[in-house]
Amino acid sequence: MDQGENEVLTRTDRGTPCGELMRRYWQPAALSEELPAGGPPLPVRLLGEDLVMFRDGRGRPGLLGVHCSHRGADLSYGRLEDGGLRCIYHGWLYDIEGRCLDQPGEPGGGEHRDAIRQPAYPCREKSGVIFAYMGPGEPPLLPHYDWLTVPDDHVAPAKLFSECNYLQGNEGNIDIFHNNYLHFMKRDLSAMSETEVQGIRDRFGDVERVSGRGPSPGTERTHAQLLDLGIRICKVRRMDAERSYIRAATFVLPSMTVIPGGSINWHVPIDDTHHWKYIITFSREKALDKETATMRASEWAPAPDYRPLVGKANRYGQDRSLMQDQVYCGIDYPNPIQDLCVVEGAGRVQDRTNEHLVESDVPVVASRKVLMKAIRDVQEGIDPPHVIRDPEANRFPQIVATFGVIPSATPWQDHLEQLVSEGQGWQTLATR
Ligand code: FES
Ligand SMILES: [Fe+2]
Repeated sequence: MDQGENEVLTRTDRGTPCGELMRRYWQPAALSEELPAGGPPLPVRLLGEDLVMFRDGRGRPGLLGVHCSHRGADLSYGRLEDGGLRCIYHGWLYDIEGRCLDQPGEPGGGEHRDAIRQPAYPCREKSGVIFAYMGPGEPPLLPHYDWLTVPDDHVAPAKLFSECNYLQGNEGNIDIFHNNYLHFMKRDLSAMSETEVQGIRDRFGDVERVSGRGPSPGTERTHAQLLDLGIRICKVRRMDAERSYIRAATFVLPSMTVIPGGSINWHVPIDDTHHWKYIITFSREKALDKETATMRASEWAPAPDYRPLVGKANRYGQDRSLMQDQVYCGIDYPNPIQDLCVVEGAGRVQDRTNEHLVESDVPVVASRKVLMKAIRDVQEGIDPPHVIRDPEANRFPQIVATFGVIPSATPWQDHLEQLVSEGQGWQTLATR
């Protein structure tokens, strides 16, 4: 990749090629818990723009440019009153659509106040996430992902502040091979029941590969398949002559990846050198024990700022004494912290001109091509893929997130297509 391409894919300010692509999709802008009813306005920085989120008198979320149209004061210090957000400098009042409802210093409350339009972006709230659309024209439909169609108590959303460009975080999900190393935890097999050991044997082929490190050389292949909405990612590990272990995920434009086990990672640019990693867990079948699910995240990235408790400043809590026989990477924290070490470690914006990509990076390369093509679509004035306007097209059975053992004679593509045709491609917590 040359420097020009790297800049195209990583810069997301308004007017940049990727910034214009990102603005064609609904993006998570905040968690509902950040904006409780009656709570203060929330400063939000998104895609390089400084904004303020608030709830109007009817509880509806709104997202406005942070600088008041009058003389630029910061509206996040504003008063919530008369159904809208009132600037504390001279009292101008705004609604969630950016209309100026009152200019109290002017005769008649401002005879020309209708000429004022504070920058405003439409919001939608579902499953504990507030989404915003920051693009031109009529917003598309909010995608009916499965986690946005179940009751709110089936979903546990969390977020993690990340000090690097969104693309690094996003590519970390698509880079499915790294699980074998970065997240490898040596299991104490002697403490397990025979059934548990058998389960590991079924899943990984033999226990030595689990209690050793990663796959045996040459036994695993990583694949990518282009879809309309992104790419399907699959790794296949030959266990023996008859059986293969597979693990499949789906990258969905512009920056979401669906991971086996009911988890979704969505990387939203704050600006070019920071992003939010939204981590969403859900179940189709049952309410989640939210306390457990969100506590897990709040232990290592607590509200209100969702900064990780271990990070670059304290070397991500790495304990080298664990590396020999317990935690491969020495970072005895959940996967998102281990991921953070390696994606932030590549620099604020990774220099991709220095990479040496190999066969297991095929999905990463494919994802860049899909993004580049989508950017060109926007430049040519057409909707990029996965901008949904037809309600009939607002369903996504082609998303797969699964793992398991299949007969080695069955091509992985056929196996996944079979799951899709049965409506079983996307396995969540309760079905795994
Ligand atoms: S700067 Fe906001 S009302 Fe004057
Ligand atoms: Fe990871």
